[in-house]
Amino acid sequence: MSGTKGARGRRFEGGLAPDAAAVNASVGFDWRLLPHDVDGSIAHARMLGRQGIIPAADVDAIVAGLLAVRGRLDRGEVEWDEALEDVHMNVEARLIDDVGDAGRRLHTGRSRNDQVATDLRLYARASAARLVDGIDALRRALLGQARRHVDTLMPGYTHLQRAQPVRAAHHFLAYDAMMARDRGRIEDAARRAGESPLGSGALAATTFAIDREGVAADLGFTGVTRNSLDAVGDRDFAIELVAACALAQVHLSRLGEELVLWTSQEFGFARLPDAYSSGSSLMPQKKNPDLAELIRGKAGRVMGAWVTLMTVVKGLPLAYNKDLQETQEPLYDAVETLDASLRVAAGMVETMELDVARLRAAVGEGHLVATELADYLVAKGVPFRDAHDVAGALVRKAIARGVELAALSLDELRAEHAAFDADVSGWLDPARAADRRDVIGGPARGRILAEIDRIAAALPPPPPPEDQSRTLGKESR
Ligand code: ARG
Repeated sequence: MSGTKGARGRRFEGGLAPDAAAVNASVGFDWRLLPHDVDGSIAHARMLGRQGIIPAADVDAIVAGLLAVRGRLDRGEVEWDEALEDVHMNVEARLIDDVGDAGRRLHTGRSRNDQVATDLRLYARASAARLVDGIDALRRALLGQARRHVDTLMPGYTHLQRAQPVRAAHHFLAYDAMMARDRGRIEDAARRAGESPLGSGALAATTFAIDREGVAADLGFTGVTRNSLDAVGDRDFAIELVAACALAQVHLSRLGEELVLWTSQEFGFARLPDAYSSGSSLMPQKKNPDLAELIRGKAGRVMGAWVTLMTVVKGLPLAYNKDLQETQEPLYDAVETLDASLRVAAGMVETMELDVARLRAAVGEGHLVATELADYLVAKGVPFRDAHDVAGALVRKAIARGVELAALSLDELRAEHAAFDADVSGWLDPARAADRRDVIGGPARGRILAEIDRIAAALPPPPPPEDQSRTLGKESR
């Protein structure tokens, strides 16, 4: 029998109706907060001791007891109890069972409202660190492919129509640019979640002479919140993090779509290894890019999480309202979905194989060097609009004859404009077409190599595989 059954105390007679208890309880999902809840309680207890609010011997009993409770819950030796509502009461009740009166002093000067606000900020910051690791892993995979394919030419597209030749490295580095911005957005969200709400109490802070800054520093926060009503009543830090997750997942959905296209027979640009492909239960020949599709499909779910959070918080009066409990599941789901997707995306990008010959062949079909003909004329002094017209007429001619532009004779070119000369043939080489785009952000070989160096210098090296410090608390269930 627990020392404390839930948070209701003797004000109430009997428990909640069973249906009500099921809706009220959050332990089915907030178990994820266990490590943060225990960290927060340890920092709070130590501070209470330092301030002389509770005896030092009780602090020692509380800290040892909390660590033991956390271990037993982590290892599954103790069941989570729905009757105890949430992670906070599960931990506190077990602590009181174990250490008695000392445990009953832990909640001095604290409310579950500032406690959950603290736990969720710690969770958001730990999650952000893990997501950044996942983004970096994907970026290293993209960079690896970019290095492999500096000299692989492929069609660049607009409207999914072949447009101009680019180096395949350029295509991979485009996704790196998106992921670099996503990384910045996630770090930014974590930075703003860096204020400790502990000490805000239920809504109006506390009468005890607590040391908020000390607790904040112990927990790795960068400061303290400045208004107790706001600190317990808002979840904007979660909304921001989930917004950043949604955008990152949208970027992954584009990458997923690209892999679906590239691995199709129609494109045939890439092959995925069996480790990232599924078969059909009916058609023996099928090899389906299910993981790429799922990464694409999961964007809806992360975007939905953001809409849910905004809707929950919208119109709530100050300060804490139980509605805020509904912000937890979308937060966890967004973080866990993006985390898993990043890891799968990194694996797919790392192991996919491009069909270099097929990509090169695609560059040679569809008049991708038409712009070069126009640029050639411009170099000979023809105004661009006129040059564009001439090149368009030549494309039309080539299509009518069923050939590529390079197959047109000098006489045929000259029939459209007298400025064409024998040196035009060099301009129709697609590698040269890419290299002529020699500006920052362009696909010229030298620019790509410089980008690879710049990104490699900015990316942290992979963490050692045994580094388990950045987990999401999944091991608790
Ligand atoms: N599980 C609750 C939540 O997530 C903890 C705070 C409960 N506070 C309260 N006043 N009932 O919001």
